[in-house]
Amino acid sequence: MTQDELKKAAALAALQDVVEDSIVGVGTGSTVNHFIDGLAGMRDRIRGAISSSEASSQRLAAHGIPLFSLDDIEEIPVYVDGADEIDDGFCMIKGGGGALTREKIVAAVSQRFICICDASKKVATLGRFPLPVEVVPMARAHVARELARLGGSPRLREGFITDNGNLIIDVHGLSIKDPVAMETALNQIVGVVTNGLFARRGADVLLLAAATGVERQVRS
Ligand code: A5P
Repeated sequence: MTQDELKKAAALAALQDVVEDSIVGVGTGSTVNHFIDGLAGMRDRIRGAISSSEASSQRLAAHGIPLFSLDDIEEIPVYVDGADEIDDGFCMIKGGGGALTREKIVAAVSQRFICICDASKKVATLGRFPLPVEVVPMARAHVARELARLGGSPRLREGFITDNGNLIIDVHGLSIKDPVAMETALNQIVGVVTNGLFARRGADVLLLAAATGVERQVRS
């Protein structure tokens, strides 16, 4: 199976977690795109979706799935999203597609985070994938210096502006032994909007696709 076929298998497995008649939280990325396409087949059984990016909103709208604003609701039962890396404790690096801030917001109002991944995303220690950090443009030099102080090599993502009008700095060379502590430390840097560590609010369920099938793991 190709990596894209594995992504699709994980994404379609998540359809069974969708709560009937609910508003579904929808992440961003190539794996989630398969989930959105699958969700279209059951759009009469859900009220609609809360999206984490302009790209996902466009795809949902193209399928005729109604979009809701977070101003309309307090909580959603299920959020489905991919990850760039996930560890044994279900902490993740996200934001390879640059949608980390809205992803973290939608995850924060969700009862259950279902992570859909191909097996290449599972790691023992987070950090081989460069950690995305969304930054207010005027703070970029200051934030880069602070990120270097934490031990990483910051690189501006050239030519990229987030849906929120900000920049992304990708931090290379980190080996993140304590994801909660690192997420907390990054949150303290003035000018950082969001960092791509999802540790304080990690995944609850992992649907991990390999050639042998989709394994369902639940956080203990
Ligand atoms: C988007 O900003 C990211 O958090 C994605 O969810 C993550 O990068 C996974 O992307 P793929 O499904 O494209 O691998």
